[in-house]
Amino acid sequence: MNFRDYIIEAQKEKWAIGQFNISNLETLKAIVAAAQKLKSPIIIGTSENESKFLGLEETVALISAVRKKSGLPIILNLDHGKTLDYIKEAVSLGYDAVHFDGSKLSLAENIDITKKVVEFAYRKKVLVEGEVGIIFGSSELHEEKIEVKKEDLTDPEKALKFINETKVDTLAVNVGTFHGLETTGEKHVNIKRLKEIKNKVKNQFLVLHGGSGIPEKDIKEAVRGGIVKININTELRLAFTEGLKKSFSEDSKESVPYKYMPEVISGIQKVVEEKIKLFGSNNKIK
Ligand code: G3H
Ligand code: ZN
Repeated sequence: MNFRDYIIEAQKEKWAIGQFNISNLETLKAIVAAAQKLKSPIIIGTSENESKFLGLEETVALISAVRKKSGLPIILNLDHGKTLDYIKEAVSLGYDAVHFDGSKLSLAENIDITKKVVEFAYRKKVLVEGEVGIIFGSSELHEEKIEVKKEDLTDPEKALKFINETKVDTLAVNVGTFHGLETTGEKHVNIKRLKEIKNKVKNQFLVLHGGSGIPEKDIKEAVRGGIVKININTELRLAFTEGLKKSFSEDSKESVPYKYMPEVISGIQKVVEEKIKLFGSNNKIK
């Protein structure tokens, strides 16, 4: 089973595969432990900045090592790639999938570059995610409210045109979510718009970004409505940061990373396990 086989299954059986972002080994360890425990396929994501911090070569090597050791189906995806050059580099170095985020460009420009990405990736059997409709915010805590207006949501007609012309494997859509968590306020999926998009694009695979902080009910409805991949980052970053802060509480004398890190890792693992169960990807390894 490869990535495509899993999303076909997910679409048929109405569950979603989680993409969990990393920028360090501890987070990767936590995600893999959760996937192993729950027998779930997983996607590891790195944004351009995350992959620059970790190193593209190092990330590919790490994934290849954990894949071999765990025997799990693990897909490595470049998340929100912004330029064709960087995407080409990731593909050439061994990424299994790439996301080209041309959502801030005009539709024509977005289509044009995405087509080039698809053409390049296809030769290496690398899957491509495209994006229509900007997904706002960054993967962190936001003090200010992020408002997603109706006109920001993905236009079903544009989504269909984009898919037909680019032949992407998956499409990221704006259905009301944004990246990160608000210190106040809530995040919701606009199920009505998701259904409108799904009716238009039929069997095309849809991706939900900004997965952190979405209420369970909305995630379940989104999966029923046709989402087959959900991206999670902020909640993992927070679990890492909070875990680390706790291990450095005032009275802590611990200075050995391999002694305080296991607790940080189990905090992240707990979050990933909850997401895997919520997405219904547990026990799906074939
Ligand atoms: O591409 C990454 C995701 O969309 C992450 O969103 O930080 O809200 O979980 P999140
Ligand atoms: Zn995203």
